[in-house]
Amino acid sequence: MLPLTLIYLLSQILGGNAQQTSFQLPLNKLANFTGNTLPNPPVLSIPSPQIGNLTVTVALCAPGPQTPRFILSNDSSITQPGISDLGNGNVFELLLTDGFGNWTGPVPDGGFMSVLNAGRMPFEVAVSDDGPMHEQMENEYPFLGDTTSNQALLFSPAFSRPDPIHPTYPNYTLPPANLSFPTGPSSPANWTLIILPTSSSSLNSFPRTACALSGVRARDVLHVGATQSEGLWLKDENGWRWQWIIDGLTPATNYTVFAMQDSKKVSSPINFVTKSAAFACPIVHSLPFCPSISYAVPIQGPSTGTIHDSSTLPDSVTQPLIEVLTNFTVSLTTFPCGRDQYSPLVGCADCQQAYRRWLCTVFFPRCSEASPDSGNSAQKPVSALQAMEPSATPRSPSLPPFSSAYNALLPCLETCTAVDRACPISMGFKCPVPRFTASSSYGVGYVDTGEEDEEGGGSTGAAQDRWGNVWCNLG
Ligand SMILES: *[C@@H]1O[C@H](CO)[C@@H](O)[C@H](O)[C@H]1NC(C)=O
Ligand SMILES: *[C@@H]1O[C@H](CO)[C@@H](O)[C@H](O)[C@H]1NC(C)=O
Ligand SMILES: *[C@@H]1O[C@H](CO)[C@@H](O)[C@H](O)[C@H]1NC(C)=O
Ligand SMILES: *[C@@H]1O[C@H](CO)[C@@H](O)[C@H](O)[C@H]1NC(C)=O
Ligand SMILES: *[C@@H]1O[C@H](CO)[C@@H](O)[C@H](O)[C@H]1NC(C)=O
Ligand SMILES: *[C@@H]1O[C@H](CO)[C@@H](O)[C@H](O)[C@H]1NC(C)=O
Ligand SMILES: *[C@@H]1O[C@H](CO)[C@@H](O)[C@H](O)[C@H]1NC(C)=O
Ligand SMILES: *[C@@H]1O[C@H](CO)[C@@H](O)[C@H](O)[C@H]1NC(C)=O
Ligand SMILES: *[C@@H]1O[C@H](CO)[C@@H](O)[C@H](O)[C@H]1NC(C)=O
Repeated sequence: MLPLTLIYLLSQILGGNAQQTSFQLPLNKLANFTGNTLPNPPVLSIPSPQIGNLTVTVALCAPGPQTPRFILSNDSSITQPGISDLGNGNVFELLLTDGFGNWTGPVPDGGFMSVLNAGRMPFEVAVSDDGPMHEQMENEYPFLGDTTSNQALLFSPAFSRPDPIHPTYPNYTLPPANLSFPTGPSSPANWTLIILPTSSSSLNSFPRTACALSGVRARDVLHVGATQSEGLWLKDENGWRWQWIIDGLTPATNYTVFAMQDSKKVSSPINFVTKSAAFACPIVHSLPFCPSISYAVPIQGPSTGTIHDSSTLPDSVTQPLIEVLTNFTVSLTTFPCGRDQYSPLVGCADCQQAYRRWLCTVFFPRCSEASPDSGNSAQKPVSALQAMEPSATPRSPSLPPFSSAYNALLPCLETCTAVDRACPISMGFKCPVPRFTASSSYGVGYVDTGEEDEEGGGSTGAAQDRWGNVWCNLG
């Protein structure tokens, strides 16, 4: 038997515990909880910022029927905000979409957040005075280079835009034909891709948050971080991207890809579809002189490995390309670049860049297959494919004939009109006229309408979409 006084003391201590001040959330740091690691009562205390607004974000970290509710008060006198306090001007609910909720506003004297109905659900909370730490980035997407039957070439969303090249008179120097890349960003954003078959059951059940997606572990789910990438690549003027080659995929399968930044922010997903098992063309990528080329080309594969880059392509292929580019650059500089403004919008450097992209796109034909969404109904467009017989003479003079039959995905006409728009008329560069000859060598009407001098308004609005359909080759 305990003496009564001790029981009294114990009850004082235990009672005192229940009244203890709630857990203080750290500023600008993630905190993680589950229902059973929450304080009792389940209230988290929010620090006040030095200045300005706070952003509070929450992310659910597992699938489950449990949907916790997060009720926040930015009035320090409402210490345990509940559902009945909603409607008070200082109490808010962080409504969850796909497992993510946020609130931004002033918290002058500190505040509190109740977590109701948490069950055993793991979740993260972040309080920041510098914008949201968690985010569902609606306008950021990973980017598909191309697929083969069992591989995909994928890129992170673009970041760190390079400075545009604007040489000026009297030292108007254009980049050499064989480009050397500028140095990449010194502390690049850390991106990870999560790739899973679109049919995977994990996909529908998991919240779209970084902590939840990082935890999706199943045989058919791939996680690849920056360290498993091919490194950074400056594919185009949108900026640097991490580049990954993914092997071991299943033919003719629809996959979903999320990109995740620093284990906190999640992109919108894209889909891609692997080619059928018979698809024979290897991917070509990482060519400094053709930075945008990242797709399957009708060329024999390298002697070792399965993918070509600038070190495995034969000189007989790359030398003529670089020679054409060099000659073009030489004749471009006979124009008084930087002195004679032929356009208020563009200069010789833009002309060279557009020409490079066009030349690379016609020089390296692209192999493809009809996109699954292609032409199923009258409203849907059809990919710009052209059937090529085995050993047909390639349109590109320095590529040897390819032994298998394949479908060539024609360049988008816009690769050509971009050169037309960016170069001095005296260069004599001409694109075929859409109404007559263009559609035999270009994909016409996808991005732009195909009417002369009309931009936009095409049937798909883009060369490829986020669902994995590819309409024409934009390089
Ligand atoms: C959750 O937080 C605890 C400490 O608060 C830490 O030890 C643990 O690593 C965190 N877990 C995750 C998944 O971040
Ligand atoms: C704080 O957030 C409110 C919206 O909640 C916004 O109207 C206001 O401009 C923000 N103030 C600052 C300094 O960011
Ligand atoms: C709480 O936030 C709301 C919305 O931003 C704001 O109108 C209100 O003044 C804030 N309350 C306090 C005590 O600052
Ligand atoms: C935060 O929530 C608002 C709606 O309340 C939304 O418009 C905004 O995009 C969200 N911010 C982030 C970073 O998701
Ligand atoms: C001209 O510009 C190029 C590239 O920007 C630079 O490498 C070179 O040093 C410059 N030459 C002179 C004489 O300024
Ligand atoms: C392009 O330049 C790199 C070095 O900058 C060199 O290794 C490579 O051989 C060149 N490529 C061609 C096709 O000339
Ligand atoms: C990048 O993110 C991955 C996965 O979240 C992590 O393991 C790695 O340590 C991070 N690298 C850097 C340099 O932050
Ligand atoms: C490039 O120019 C040189 C010199 O004018 C010429 O001999 C060569 O044939 C040209 N090459 C191409 C591919 O046009
Ligand atoms: C891949 O699957 C998604 C979801 O079912 C679908 O919306 C998309 O159209 C599919 N992509 C292709 C190219 O079939």
